[in-house]
Formats: sequence, C-alpha cells, structure tokens
Amino acid sequence: MAIPERFIDDLVSRSDIVDVVSDYVQLTKRSGSNMFGLCPFHNEKTPSFSVSPDKQIYHCFGCGKGGGVINFIMEIENLPFPDAVRFLAKRAGMEVPEDTVDDRTATRRSRLLALNKDAARFFYENLSKPVGAGAVEYINSRGLNKDVVVRFGLGAAPDSWNTLSDAMQSKGYSVGELLEAGLVKRGRNGGVYDVFRNRLMFPVIDVHGDVVGFSGRIIGDGEPKYLNSPDTPVFQKSRNLFALNLARKTKRGMLMLVEGNIDVVMLHQAGFDCAVASLGTSLTTEQARLMARYTKNAVLCYDSDNAGVKAVQRAIPILESTGLSVRVLRMSGAKDPDEYIKKHGADSFTVLLERSENHIEYTLLSARDKYDLATDDGRLGFMREATGLLAALPNAVERDIYSARAAEYAGVSLDAVKSEVNREVRRRIRESRQKRERDASRPELAVQPAERSLRYDNVPSAMAEEGIVRLLMLDPSLVKESGELKQEDFTSEFLGKVYSVICRRYNDGETVSLASLTRELTQEEMSHLSTVLQKPESLADSSEKLRDYIKRMQTEQLRARAKTDPIEAMKILRDRKGLSG
Ligand code: GTP
Ligand code: MN
Repeated sequence: MAIPERFIDDLVSRSDIVDVVSDYVQLTKRSGSNMFGLCPFHNEKTPSFSVSPDKQIYHCFGCGKGGGVINFIMEIENLPFPDAVRFLAKRAGMEVPEDTVDDRTATRRSRLLALNKDAARFFYENLSKPVGAGAVEYINSRGLNKDVVVRFGLGAAPDSWNTLSDAMQSKGYSVGELLEAGLVKRGRNGGVYDVFRNRLMFPVIDVHGDVVGFSGRIIGDGEPKYLNSPDTPVFQKSRNLFALNLARKTKRGMLMLVEGNIDVVMLHQAGFDCAVASLGTSLTTEQARLMARYTKNAVLCYDSDNAGVKAVQRAIPILESTGLSVRVLRMSGAKDPDEYIKKHGADSFTVLLERSENHIEYTLLSARDKYDLATDDGRLGFMREATGLLAALPNAVERDIYSARAAEYAGVSLDAVKSEVNREVRRRIRESRQKRERDASRPELAVQPAERSLRYDNVPSAMAEEGIVRLLMLDPSLVKESGELKQEDFTSEFLGKVYSVICRRYNDGETVSLASLTRELTQEEMSHLSTVLQKPESLADSSEKLRDYIKRMQTEQLRARAKTDPIEAMKILRDRKGLSG
C-alpha cells in the first residue's frame, strides 16, 4: 500500500523547495522571483538552474530537468518515489505512516544504518575500556585531543576476530546484515570474522548525519595502513567525503581537500574546520560536485611528495569542471598538513593558506620546477607546456598576466610567448568548432534544450494547451469550466495526458498538486511539466482566459485541418457558427 496522499501534501508544504535545494546547490543570483544556481544535473559554468519559491518548482534552462521538491530528491539522491518521501520526511522531522508491505529496501537501508551507528558506538565506547588502551595511547602519540576524538566519534577496533561481530549479534543484527555492512567477512571454516581489527576507527558520516561506513588506521605499523568499508547499499566511497558532515558548516568560505584522515582530524583540531578527505580513492567528479554544493572555493592541500603533486594536477580540472575556484596550498619542510602543523603550528599554516596560489600560478611553478631552464631543451619543454596551460585560460586578461610570468621564467620575450599562445588559442577554437559540427550530425550527443525536448506538432495550439494546464494547476476547480474539452482535443499528447490526470483527480475528489502528479507522471514528464509551469500565468480573469485558450486551440486546429482537408474544415466552421448562433 502506498503512503497516504494527505501525508505527502503535508510533507511537501513543510519542505520548502528553496530550503531543500539549498542543501545541494548554492542559490545565489536572483532574477525576478526566481533564484538561480549551477545545475547539479549537468556541468555548467553559468547558472541556468532556477528555483521558484512561489511555484515551488525547480527547472533547469540548460538540461531541461525539473519538477517539484519530491522530484528533486528523487533525481539528486537517485531514489524511487517512496524513498524520496521518506528522505524528505526525515529531514522535516515527520513520521511516515508506513504500510510495511513493499518497503523492504527502505527497511534494509535503515537496518544497515542502525547497525553502522551501533558499531560506531561500540568502537567509541571501547576507548574507555581496557581493550581500547592501545588506541588511546596511539591517539595521544599522534597529538589528537579529547575534543576532536568526540567530535569525530573516533573509536577502537580491538585486536580480536569476533568482538564486534558478537556484540552486534547480541544486539539482534544478523550475520547477513553484518556481511552486507562490510563489517565482517566469511572465513574458510564458514564462520565470520571482524574486518576491522587493531585499528583506530574513523566513522564516515554523511551530510544527513548517518554513519555510512568506516575507515580504520592500523595502530602502529602494519599493512594495510588504512582499511575502508567496501561499497554497500548505504555507502559509495566515490560519493562521500570524510568529515564533510562537519566541514560543510565551516565559516571559512572554503573547503580544503587533503589526503589523509589524520590530516583532517589534526586540521580541525587546529581550527581549520573546513578540511575534508576522499576515502582512500582519488578524487571523483561526484565528490567535486558534492563540495560545490557547499562552497565556491576549494583549496587543495595534498602531500608534498611526488604522488601528491600528481594528484593535485589530476584534481584541478575535476574541481574546476564543477564551477569551483581552485587554489593550491604548497607545503615545504613537511610531508603533510598533520606533520606541518605539529612542526610549525597553526599560525604558520594560516600563512601558507593565505599565500596559497591560484591553480594557474601553481601549475606554472610546477612546470617550471620540472625543467632545466638553463638548457634550450628545457626552455622549449617548459614553453610547450606553458603554452597549453595559458591557451586554456578563458579570459584574455588572465592569459596576458600569466604569459608575462611564463616569459620571465623561460627568459624569452613576452611577444614570443603571446604569439605562441594566440596561435594555440586559434587552433583550439578551430578544433572545437569542428567537433561541434561533427557532434551536430550525431543528434544522440546533443543536450536537448528544454524547449526543444518538448516537440510540438502544432506550436500555436500547444501554447494554448500549456496555458490551460498552467491555469488548472493554479486552480483545479476550473475543470468545471473546461466544458467539453477532452484529452483527444490536445495536439500535444503529453499535455493531453496531464489534462486528463488533472480532470480525473479533481472529479474523484483527490488533490491536484505537483506532488500528486509526481506519482502519476514519469520523471521525464515532470521535467516537461516544469518547463510548462515555469512560464508566467496568473489567475486574474481565469475563466475568461480559459475560454480564450480553448478557443485558440480550436482555431489553430481548424487552420491545420484547412491545410489537409479544406472541405471538412469548412463544414466544421459552418457547424460551429450555426451552434453559436
Ligand atoms: P599517517 O599520517 O601515516 O597516519 O596517515 P595519513 O592519515 O597521513 O594518510 P596517508 O597520507 O598515508 O594516506 C592518505 C589516505 O590514503 C588515507 O587517509 C587513506 O584514505 C588512503 N590510504 C593510505 N594507505 C592506504 C591503504 O593501505 N589502503 C587503502 N585502501 N587506503 C590507504
Ligand atoms: Mn600523515
């Protein structure tokens, strides 16, 4: 059985779309009554994603995605309708009147989350027991204080094969659940054993406050140094960042991406509460998008070894592609932030942070350090690399500034650099034009702009049909005045379907709201509907407007008919005149 409609309406009215979307998208620009931000559903550099506080819809003018608050959660959290409702309910602090028949997956998810939370508590409580003595000693040796231990919920996995497993089973979790959560593995003898042993435990907590997985560092030396939970139904490494649950609340106006968990904890302890880390994987686009939901500024602060430098180069374009502005913090005399802060203190790190270079400076400097600029070969190599970098800069002023820098490093004239860069810019423009032309002949590659994805056969009639749908959504009781108008009268099959759903719901005494339609229409249809609804409409003179729209539909259709079948069209016209006197 489904969740009651009344509950859904109530939930939607308590889940303001601006509020909900703001958890994911920075809504900044205001234009008319709409707020705009960077679309979370496609990559873009200028905001075309709009949210309408009065209509309670979102709509992207770039990719055409749109709908109501439930659609938004379905789309961004990749959840089916009922799970999106539960998700919003949790957010709004409401209890879903559950009918437990078909929500086995939701139950499974919540069981796993509860298990993770209990496991985190178990690890944490070990710190005040003899089994946790080693971990406590290790925490102290790393210079971490009680405050961050509590803030991060650090814990100890004992040096044993089954304490966690036994403790969780005695709390009622099954072996199957423990396996699914990645907390135990099956051994040769058919039994199971604890995955995390003799480790300092870092719970991974997502932005909703759920413990989704764990990261465990071996206490002392040993292999592997870190062990992370596998991907589970509640955890995807590539879509989470360690400590984002804390860092998203920072007032520093930036997120700092570092490599190690210990670095994160140490930075938070030193007052840099904006630090996050990816979870033992290299940075993914999803993680970059996740960061971009909370800030415009990213600072990369990876280890100063070769691997770290390579990782920075890899991370810059990934972060940039989500619209983040990227700076790079260079450390010398320490291999990572944890070591730096221990050696030089937080104030010194603040200086580094303030001096952190924008990524162009950083990349130019790294290129410079790579070549021996005393030789012709070295200068040529550097110039080739610098030219590519400079040509990729989107604005001419930046290109000039950094061309001067490159000229200085290489000891060549500014004019020489500029002419090389300009040539490369022109080559790239040519190349991208050719690529666009190639892609244009492959329609499957084109992102359909919203308007065009709604292909109307009879545009003037469809405009009137859209108006009818908008009016009825504003005031469903107008259904009573739409008279003889039938689904088949619509030239747009889509608009006809929406019309018939509205009529049926109204006539059956059910609510007609965006949320109620979300259940009856596909995600794609809801996107179409958002395209229709984002256009202006008001209820002033609504009855008259409705009549006008209907008349326009009839006229347009008659005109279309006259082209294919003039005699029939004349007959219809005569009948109509006769009827209306
Ligand atoms: P220490 O300061 O040596 O305690 O470690 P760290 O926190 O500075 O981490 P390090 O720079 O050695 O590694 C950075 C990150 O890479 C860690 O936070 C882990 O996510 C990941 N990592 C390191 N070693 C391993 C490993 O053996 N296995 C896996 N899966 N990930 C690892
Ligand atoms: Mn370290």
